[in-house]
Amino acid sequence: MKIAVLGAAGGIGQPLSLLLKNQLPAGSELALYDVNPVVPGVAADLSHIPTPVKVTGHGKDALGEALSGADIVVVPAGVPRKPGMTRDDLFNVNAGIVRDLARAGAEACPQVCWLIITNPVNSTVPIAAETLRQAGVYDRRKVFGVTTLDVIRANTFVAEAKGLDPRDLDVRVIGGHSGNTILPLLSQIPGVSFSDEEARALTARIQNAGTEVVEAKAGAGSATLSMAEAALRFTLAVLRGLEGEESVMCSYVQVDGMPTEFFATPVRLGRGGVEEILPYGELSALERELYEAMLPTLEANIEKGLAFARQGG
Ligand SMILES: NC(=O)c1ccc[n+]([C@@H]2O[C@H](COP(=O)([O-])OP(=O)(O)OC[C@H]3O[C@@H](n4cnc5c(N)ncnc54)[C@H](O)[C@@H]3O)[C@@H](O)[C@H]2O)c1
Repeated sequence: MKIAVLGAAGGIGQPLSLLLKNQLPAGSELALYDVNPVVPGVAADLSHIPTPVKVTGHGKDALGEALSGADIVVVPAGVPRKPGMTRDDLFNVNAGIVRDLARAGAEACPQVCWLIITNPVNSTVPIAAETLRQAGVYDRRKVFGVTTLDVIRANTFVAEAKGLDPRDLDVRVIGGHSGNTILPLLSQIPGVSFSDEEARALTARIQNAGTEVVEAKAGAGSATLSMAEAALRFTLAVLRGLEGEESVMCSYVQVDGMPTEFFATPVRLGRGGVEEILPYGELSALERELYEAMLPTLEANIEKGLAFARQGG
């Protein structure tokens, strides 16, 4: 398998590439692309780690080369938040980056799986989808918004609150990936229960966890290390799926029969990418209230992305 990381020299890109170098199956190829001229150096550095994964570095003018023959493209290219910013504030810069990368991928690797990390994910995934559709290569089973960070944060915080081992948890987080569109289904965790008050407080913490990091980094960016770990987990799950080993993960994908066209929900990953969109189960009264409240924001984020891509940016 060939995995291309676009934005590989960045705060997420570098630790993610390190994790992939260490954990991709033997014989895999890791192609690192960035507009930052340091990227061949990052590739050279990683290539000295003794694992059977070939690493190549590709600068600004070599995007096609990085993408050619790729099975999975992971996209953390773009600017991160600074204190006081919402993810939507990143739209003006990041929308064009994702559109341009999707256009290049449509030419170089039309069958590839897209794992979009670049924020605002609620809008950048519709941008990638619409751009690929315009190029005639869109396969909805192969375009994913990476929301795994919300899941691992939920696992961590629930474990802390209840004295559990976070490795035993797999909290479903549905909706989108910003503010109130992040909806952890705390009522569905086997053997764990919360009062309404606890559930509200914990939900708010999970929704604001990204901002917690942005503020703690005081202007130096947003979550990078936990995001790299989250992206590693999701990339490996997609890769194993392509090789026939199925699993279920939450991801922000195009859906049918839901109030919005894109939605984060559990999906069964397999040889074709998304093999099945799974139901997210019964919501508690509180979750139902939060679900209804998020829909206008999510809908607006999706429309904004689609409109941008339809106007050719
Ligand atoms: N999905 C999530 O859960 C999640 C979590 C954290 C951060 N993010 C998002 O991930 C993105 C990256 O965050 P970061 O902290 O790594 O930022 P960063 O600024 O440290 O790194 C971004 C990298 O992208 C590169 N880049 C910019 N334009 C590019 C282009 N056109 N092609 C290729 N590379 C390009 C930059 O040179 C830089 O190396 C941000 O948009 C951030 O909001 C998403």
